[in-house]
Amino acid sequence: MRWTSVVATALLLTTSACDRKNSQWQPVDTESLEVNERQRLDTAQAAQKDLGKTLKGELTAAVKETSFAGAVDFCHSRAPEIANEVAEKHGVNLGRTSHRLRNANNTPPAWASDAVERKEPKEYVFRGPDETLGYLKPIKLGGLCTNCHGPKDQLAPGVAEQLEEKYPNDEATGFAVGDLRGWFWVEVPGA
Ligand code: HEC
Repeated sequence: MRWTSVVATALLLTTSACDRKNSQWQPVDTESLEVNERQRLDTAQAAQKDLGKTLKGELTAAVKETSFAGAVDFCHSRAPEIANEVAEKHGVNLGRTSHRLRNANNTPPAWASDAVERKEPKEYVFRGPDETLGYLKPIKLGGLCTNCHGPKDQLAPGVAEQLEEKYPNDEATGFAVGDLRGWFWVEVPGA
């Protein structure tokens, strides 16, 4: 009896601590942003565009140089590096995430997880602690992407084998063109 209540209290404390942490992040309407927040949103959008463009450019080059199967290795090693480089350049934290992950390292930050699970393809802006601004931008699947994220029988030759080797827990196949594939997330720190 006593232990049960100790456990229950511990659970309650943990839950309220988490609630407090998450309640520091609130979704906001872009119309209601103040001038300095608007500037942070501009930074977030510029960083997101830079990441998208750099990834796509390097991915296309890697596919041309090798093959789709060869480019899986590129995504594996270069995608996280590119994210770090772009983050540093813009002075932000950023990455890609999804409700169906290929790499568990791409799990969404806590403030973004509810929106990611809602699976509505729209942009979100969040106010975080210490004037941090959070930004989420949906990513839809394009024709190029189906080679590595499409239905299993439509993957480019050799891709399924590469995925099995590098991502045994892959959830990121079976998408069709136009589907919500995932999200870019960006955190811009306060001044
Ligand atoms: C050559 C194969 C390949 C192609 C083509 C490709 N991807 Fe990926 N994608 C990957 C791999 C491999 C990862 C895991 C990267 C990592 O380990 O961080 C990944 C990860 C992602 C992620 C991060 C979330 C997660 O599941 O880990 C998103 C979002 C994503 N891809 C979207 C796209 C979109 C959109 C396109 C088309 C523009 C695309 N991909 C084209 C192989 C590919």
